[in-house]
Amino acid sequence: MNFVPASADQPIRRRIGNFARRSVIVESSVKMSEPAIGDLRDPAYLKIRDVIYQTSGIYQPKEKLYLLASRCARRMGAVGAKTPTEYLGHLTARGNRKAELRSLLNEITIGETYMFRSVPQLEALRRIVLPQILENKIAQGGSPHLQLWSAGCSTGEEPYTLAMFLSEERRRLLAGWTFNILATDLNDNSLSVAKAGIYGEHALRSTAEPLRRAYFHPCGGDQLQISDQLKSVVRFERVNLHDDGSMKMLHGMDVIFCCNVLIYFDLASKRKVIQHFHSSLSPGGYLFLGNAESLFQVDGRFRLVHFPGAIGYRKPALDTSTEVKREPRPS
Ligand SMILES: C[S@@+](CC[C@H](N)C(=O)[O-])C[C@H]1O[C@@H](n2cnc3c(N)ncnc32)[C@H](O)[C@@H]1O
Repeated sequence: MNFVPASADQPIRRRIGNFARRSVIVESSVKMSEPAIGDLRDPAYLKIRDVIYQTSGIYQPKEKLYLLASRCARRMGAVGAKTPTEYLGHLTARGNRKAELRSLLNEITIGETYMFRSVPQLEALRRIVLPQILENKIAQGGSPHLQLWSAGCSTGEEPYTLAMFLSEERRRLLAGWTFNILATDLNDNSLSVAKAGIYGEHALRSTAEPLRRAYFHPCGGDQLQISDQLKSVVRFERVNLHDDGSMKMLHGMDVIFCCNVLIYFDLASKRKVIQHFHSSLSPGGYLFLGNAESLFQVDGRFRLVHFPGAIGYRKPALDTSTEVKREPRPS
């Protein structure tokens, strides 16, 4: 089945605009009136920014503090704090810290996404990555099973795209193989949307009609719901990529997609997350990032692989002879 090519990635300002429009669904519905943002030079904002950074790796540079402030305003409204300092007090108070931080992270993360966002990555999977991984597994006598991870899956469009793609490949490349997709995010609201699996035209704008018919059913208005069969191969979990304890538990991944997540991180947090991905990947496994992201100066242990319209990062295989034999030529 052919996939309708995804449109080019949108510039960041439009993405933020789209998120704001979609936020009706994703974000918590705080009904109380929000306090004014106030003075952005208020040092409380920098302290809130630091708490967010230390917990999640998400870094807001000073010139983007207005974004943080507007999202804090919602939490300030929810907890009845009149100033950023009052809110900081609430956020850091012993009894509140964990729950309030979680609510704040739900507000500040940006979840823009849609199905079939990067078709060249799927083509790379089909033509090079999966054949290579299958060959390695067969050579090593491994079980015919693939484990993929969509890290920072937002509302689920990326893992469901992978599930559709792999399901289609069951008739060809993956005949006789099984697969699972772990889909993780930090944002509870996004994960709830993902588990429900109900999408409108915004999410489905690059999804071909035959795929809509095969993997969705209508569920009122112009909404479509993901089939149970597709849901059954995706497992959603709340995982903070910056949390060493949770990240150390995740092993045996054949391919990791962490697209459009690390753009919100600084270099130190990127290094930390990528180190975990390196441990989570099986030898010969691949990491894919978003179009605007790279491992340049982040981690030198991966092999950069060029595909038409996409790049991937390969953790060297144990047997390097198969690696050299099947490496694609740079495009
Ligand atoms: C722009 S969306 C990307 C969605 C999808 N990967 C794509 O490319 O279409 C970024 C996602 O990363 C998540 N995220 C940001 N920081 C995170 C962290 N520390 N741990 C887990 N998820 C995080 C956000 O909640 C958000 O859903």
